[in-house]
Amino acid sequence: MAELFTPFTLKSITLKNRIGIPPMCQYSAGEDGVVNNWHKQHYAELARGGAGLVVVEATAVSPEGRISPNDVGIWNDQQADELAKIATSIKENGSVPGIQIAHAGRKASANRPWDGDDHLAEDDPRGWDTIAPSAVAFGANLPKTPKEMSHADIERVQQNFVDAAKRALDAGFEWLELHFAHGYLAQSFFNRDANQRTDEYGGDKEGRGKFLIDTLKAVRAVWPQELPLTARFGVIEYDGRDEETLEESIWLIKEFKDHGLDFLSVSFGFSTPDVNIPWGPSMLAQTAERVRRETGLPVASAWGFDKPQDAERAIAEQQLDQVLIGRAYLANPRYTYQLAKALEVENPSWVLPAPYAHWAGRY
Ligand code: NDP
Ligand code: FNR
Repeated sequence: MAELFTPFTLKSITLKNRIGIPPMCQYSAGEDGVVNNWHKQHYAELARGGAGLVVVEATAVSPEGRISPNDVGIWNDQQADELAKIATSIKENGSVPGIQIAHAGRKASANRPWDGDDHLAEDDPRGWDTIAPSAVAFGANLPKTPKEMSHADIERVQQNFVDAAKRALDAGFEWLELHFAHGYLAQSFFNRDANQRTDEYGGDKEGRGKFLIDTLKAVRAVWPQELPLTARFGVIEYDGRDEETLEESIWLIKEFKDHGLDFLSVSFGFSTPDVNIPWGPSMLAQTAERVRRETGLPVASAWGFDKPQDAERAIAEQQLDQVLIGRAYLANPRYTYQLAKALEVENPSWVLPAPYAHWAGRY
């Protein structure tokens, strides 16, 4: 019996297996942030691929919160109406529809990865002014100095998250993920270097954690108790201060739990370009297991869990409650079938919908 193929219940939602497809930006919307045929086909295809959960890519809560001019947004009704079609399609195709809501902070206003992955030029008409906890640039390929957020900016962005959560709910999403990771706005509030504030949103871990906790609390107030409210958070940077960062992160995650978070996607901070990440298989397994054990929250993680035995081990050894697999599904949207075959699941093709399963198993 492969543990990877056991169901997982969180609140009123049961996922048919322990495989989640994490959010992956497609950078394929127009400047209006509305999903189009690319996204509709992409998410239907992923949902038909047999993973228990499909999380729609980082979806901006405001125009200035986009990473690139081609990001998907959820700050108006037209965007939400089109996203609703994706939520329906993910569900009809056998998976649970999730969505990640996001604000890119000082990493916003950038070119798509395949157009350079750097900040848009100052004279590029598609660009915009960025905001962050402090007027400190990320550096490297993202040198633009953001504006330090005023209290009014903070309240506005938190309201943007609340409005986005309500729209996501009305659109039919059943699993909400707050993007608190990867050096974007929320993560940079918690990071000591990015956040140099001297008011109540800076300083010690309580101050640096305030934006994240307040945002979570505000979203929890509008997101139904019976549906999973989750976050992706970078618990470690690999910048040489890792034990200190991890201890502070675990403190913050316990606060998240106390304020209603149901599940955590454990990731990297990516708050600074000066890191030395030891890339390799199952690389966050031990860290995620520690977060799970010390906080009591169910956890997921990505990064190097795509090999069948690595994915199976992470679940069987209770390091993770869910394995996130990204790029392998871009390469092969029916990757679940490969996992099932490798793990010797009975009738492995039946992890796919019948019109594929019936034939794939005889092929
Ligand atoms: P880059 O993608 O430019 O990566 C920075 C460095 O880390 C590069 O040397 C890169 O190697 C290496 N690297 C990144 N991911 C991996 C990996 N999985 N395995 C091995 N090496 C890796 O950094 P970014 O800051 O643009 O993105 C950081 C991460 O966030 C990326 O892994 C990316 O997949 C992810 N991401 C997150 C988004 C979001 O949260 N909205 C949006 C897009 C990406 P190499 O040059 O060989 O790739
Ligand atoms: C990503 N990643 C990512 N993460 C996130 O939290 N929100 C996002 O929108 C994106 N976007 C994104 C786009 C693309 C093209 C890639 C490749 C990655 C990170 C992603 O969710 C995942 O953590 C990584 O891809 C690592 O998992 P794999 O690919 O090693 O299984």
